[in-house]
Amino acid sequence: GDTMDREDLLFSYKGILYPTTVCSPEIFKALESFEARQADVILAGYPKSGTNWVGQILTDLVTTSAENNEDETNSINDEELEEFPYLEVGDAEKYQRMEKLSSRRVIFTHLLPHNLPESIFKNKAKILVLVRNPKDVATSFYHFTNAMSPLPSYETWDEFFTAFMTGKMPWGSYFDYICEWSKHVDDENVMTITYEELKENRALGVKKIAEFFVLPLTEEQLQAVADRSSFQAMKENAHKTHGSFGNVLFRKGGVSDWKNLFNEDQNQEMDKMFEESLARTKLGAKIKYEVYC
Ligand code: A3P
Repeated sequence: GDTMDREDLLFSYKGILYPTTVCSPEIFKALESFEARQADVILAGYPKSGTNWVGQILTDLVTTSAENNEDETNSINDEELEEFPYLEVGDAEKYQRMEKLSSRRVIFTHLLPHNLPESIFKNKAKILVLVRNPKDVATSFYHFTNAMSPLPSYETWDEFFTAFMTGKMPWGSYFDYICEWSKHVDDENVMTITYEELKENRALGVKKIAEFFVLPLTEEQLQAVADRSSFQAMKENAHKTHGSFGNVLFRKGGVSDWKNLFNEDQNQEMDKMFEESLARTKLGAKIKYEVYC
């Protein structure tokens, strides 16, 4: 993280904070005209929920399925893979380039649903919503933001915890995120997956994702996708897939690391917040909270 004034590192757009060097008002403006397709493969998750992990699974499933079909128009070529896959990250011309891509575009986003282009919902693109318990998200975010220069850094965990609880975070509040996506959980084109269930049984998670996006793979191919997405395998490959960013990204890859940071008061504050704001929302109810907290 950068110790320069936090205000300079973040800007506000429609009431939500974003990192200045990663997003821009121009790209948000351009995004409004983005035309989603029914065949798009969309992954939505709050930062640090395991986006890169599930993103790799999705990309691998789509690529393998295209190879099965020997379908050139459906394949993802290397050039396309190189394009930074986050919808809201890049330059304002990226949507014109995306327009030319083959029909199955794998798109990641940290945006709240009402900040996404309307065409995603109108055109019934399928969306996989990824959630992770808030204590591990906060823990992961704290380590990440301190290690990444485009993001603000925090001298103490306590200071970060306050920012997380009050939602003064890049991409906004975790709690708002879950509440807003709750409104879409029952949409026919939406499926939810938790970081924790994937951690418990990766092969099963991979299979469910493939079924949801109707990507026909053999049992062996599904197993190979699961094998290639183990934490170990991804960490070993990190330099190739993510460059120096990989060292920071593949940190621990487990559950309950929050126990090394939260004090008892913070633990109770989070439990209370979860109970009051999320436990009874549709998406909140799907979070593996009690089990790991
Ligand atoms: P930790 O910081 O707890 O280790 P995102 O991709 O949304 O930024 O999320 C990053 C988190 O996902 C990190 O959590 C990272 O280690 C974890 N992660 C990445 N690949 C993973 C994998 N293959 N298996 C389990 N966790 C993974």
